[in-house]
Amino acid sequence: MPEIEIHKVTAHIGARVSGVDLSRPLDAETVTALREALNVHKALVFDDVHLDDEGQQAFARHFGDITTAHPTVPAVEGAPNVLPVDSERGRANHWHTDVTFVLNPPQASTLRSINVPPYGGETLIASSAAAYRDLPEPLRRLADTLWAEHTNDYDYAVPHEAIDEEKAAQRAQFTSITYRTVHPVVRVHPLTGERGLFIGGFAQRIVGLSVPESGKLLDLLQSYVTRPENVLRWRWSPNQLVLFDNRITQHYAIDNYDGLPRRLHRVTVAGDVPVGIEGKESYSIEGDASHYTSVAA
Ligand SMILES: [Fe+2]
Repeated sequence: MPEIEIHKVTAHIGARVSGVDLSRPLDAETVTALREALNVHKALVFDDVHLDDEGQQAFARHFGDITTAHPTVPAVEGAPNVLPVDSERGRANHWHTDVTFVLNPPQASTLRSINVPPYGGETLIASSAAAYRDLPEPLRRLADTLWAEHTNDYDYAVPHEAIDEEKAAQRAQFTSITYRTVHPVVRVHPLTGERGLFIGGFAQRIVGLSVPESGKLLDLLQSYVTRPENVLRWRWSPNQLVLFDNRITQHYAIDNYDGLPRRLHRVTVAGDVPVGIEGKESYSIEGDASHYTSVAA
């Protein structure tokens, strides 16, 4: 078996992995090595993977139970655990962590490139651990005490009058079940003990603050997540797979490809209920996601 090679892409986030054939079942040693690399680098890129949906799901299952495609958005036809990430069906050009509006968001996401535009279409992935470390001491102390409400039911910064009929239908589907969950703003990673800012686009309000106050504070904290030094800018080639740790990253799909076709397939691994620095768990206010995900131990 060839040795696994791991090469950093940037100082704070991202590594390329070679020497692993993802189309075969992985032995326990290899899975452990990949998990350790994920803990350190947060996002791992694999080239020349040549997987189909089945193969992508089998790879994701090495890290835990997989979720269904999404709590409200339909799966790829015939593949209930695979979410199509298709430019035809919306653009995720906003910073977010996947599905944080549910009580136990996925612990990890895999994205596999099916169709990539000839230019643009990069995915940005940010380390929220690096963001937390960058906070000046007084802000870090403040963040440590905060909890935020995450929801799927808000406008993606698009004014109502700018939404056409198709977009309105997509939005109605996205919010067909309303979810509201309160998570710690500083989440402790269950495997590493590392702290990260757990906010992103679905975090709409800080508990105890008004919406305008929340917006200012969230913007301030978010500015540390999106520092260029904390971000991997991944330019896709065909047949690549990116595995990222959804507990301690945010991502953003850049809409810079003139509407050309772009399609990735996403498979996510079921996650645990987040825990803050004092050991207190997230709690749900509204919305049952048991049809979408099991709860990882
Ligand atoms: Fe996403």
